[in-house]
Amino acid sequence: MDNLPYKNAVLYVMSGTGNTYRAARWVLEFAGPYIENTRIVMIDGSDTEDETIHSRDTLVGVLFPAHGFMPPWSMIKFLLGMRRQKRVPALCAATRGGIKVGPLRIPGAAGLGTFLAAFLMMIKGYRPRALFSLDMPSNLINFHWGLYSKNVAAITGKAEQKLAMLVPRIMEGRSVYFTRNNLWEAMWSIGIFWLIPVFPLLYLLIGKLFMAKLMFSSDRCVGCGRCARFCPNQAIEMRSAGKKKRPYWTYHCEVCLRCMGYCSKRAVEAGHLWAILLYFIISIPVFTALLLWLHELSDLVPAIRGYWPTEILNLIYVLPALFFSYWLFWHLIRIPMMNTFFTITTLTHYYRRYHEPETRLKHMAQRHKTGSDSLPHNYGSPI
Ligand SMILES: Cc1cc2nc3c(=O)[nH]c(=O)nc-3n(C[C@H](O)[C@H](O)[C@H](O)COP(=O)(O)O)c2cc1C
Ligand code: SF4
Ligand code: SF4
Repeated sequence: MDNLPYKNAVLYVMSGTGNTYRAARWVLEFAGPYIENTRIVMIDGSDTEDETIHSRDTLVGVLFPAHGFMPPWSMIKFLLGMRRQKRVPALCAATRGGIKVGPLRIPGAAGLGTFLAAFLMMIKGYRPRALFSLDMPSNLINFHWGLYSKNVAAITGKAEQKLAMLVPRIMEGRSVYFTRNNLWEAMWSIGIFWLIPVFPLLYLLIGKLFMAKLMFSSDRCVGCGRCARFCPNQAIEMRSAGKKKRPYWTYHCEVCLRCMGYCSKRAVEAGHLWAILLYFIISIPVFTALLLWLHELSDLVPAIRGYWPTEILNLIYVLPALFFSYWLFWHLIRIPMMNTFFTITTLTHYYRRYHEPETRLKHMAQRHKTGSDSLPHNYGSPI
């Protein structure tokens, strides 16, 4: 034990449907024989500061799901708000959405997500010692059906094996940067992002403004409020809708899909027909008609012609149109017939749901608690 570099491990974890939480538990399980104290700290959207000062014999990890080849917003905010440290060793890991159909395995891609997290930690004075991505079952159930339990078991089994091999190496003090997986990830991202360099940033915006606004609750919803209580970003408001309350998705939502994966009534849907309608409302026909009309006026007001004036007008139109449309949608889905219409015209109504089978909501709800971990609460010095 004396020759080993780490005494403690603290993992900051963001997880939507439990994959990353499970991965963090495995990391600690395999690290157990090499260290004395461990702790998992669940991160949510309200955690923008961490005051702990870590010692140099503590391995500090950040683990998150890949969202659009990036860490989720809440993790980026958390990393930016981390307290400065002095040469504290760090680990950055992303879980990705792996898919298995029959014998075919399709790996996920975290892009430059772990590299970005490592870079932000370096700015904060950490020394990254390990970077890796791990394929867990894809939780993108707003796009595809949840995987069969047999395939889920195959993917998670492989992920566990990978950590069983990797974690002891890290705990013995070896650095892990140059894995085949990291190389593939970096090459892939550089290839893609050279073509579409703004994609991850665009995703952060689209995910928040557009994808979150496709969520609604079907008439299966009993108004229990569990989705609101366990949302890591406190993004759901329970609003009165007739005799019962219904969830209302605010702009704090970052589409982690916890509400969709864990609702026991399978009442959370992402409206696909609604997505198409919304796309047209906020972009093509209405705005084009508006622009043509404005261009006719442009003889009178030449300033509204040209690329930038058009783009600015576009923005002025798109954002209010999006807010207004969701407001209208919220009122429409309260009418039973309209709710049924939007429910049966979305594919998610027919999709199997997914959450990590072993992870319960209460596991992920323990914020800043030691739970079954052994690192004491007063570890580190508050400011
Ligand atoms: C909005 C969203 C975006 C995602 N983007 C990616 C991605 O870019 N690459 C990838 O491999 N997986 C992606 N996934 C899949 C998840 O990263 C993956 O299933 C992860 O293990 C989920 O972890 P969690 O259960 O801890 O949230 C995405 C999932 C969601 C919900
Ligand atoms: S969507 Fe599901 S979890 Fe949320 S209030 Fe309705 S029934 Fe409860
Ligand atoms: S509202 Fe649902 S999808 Fe959005 S952040 Fe909360 S739990 Fe995740």
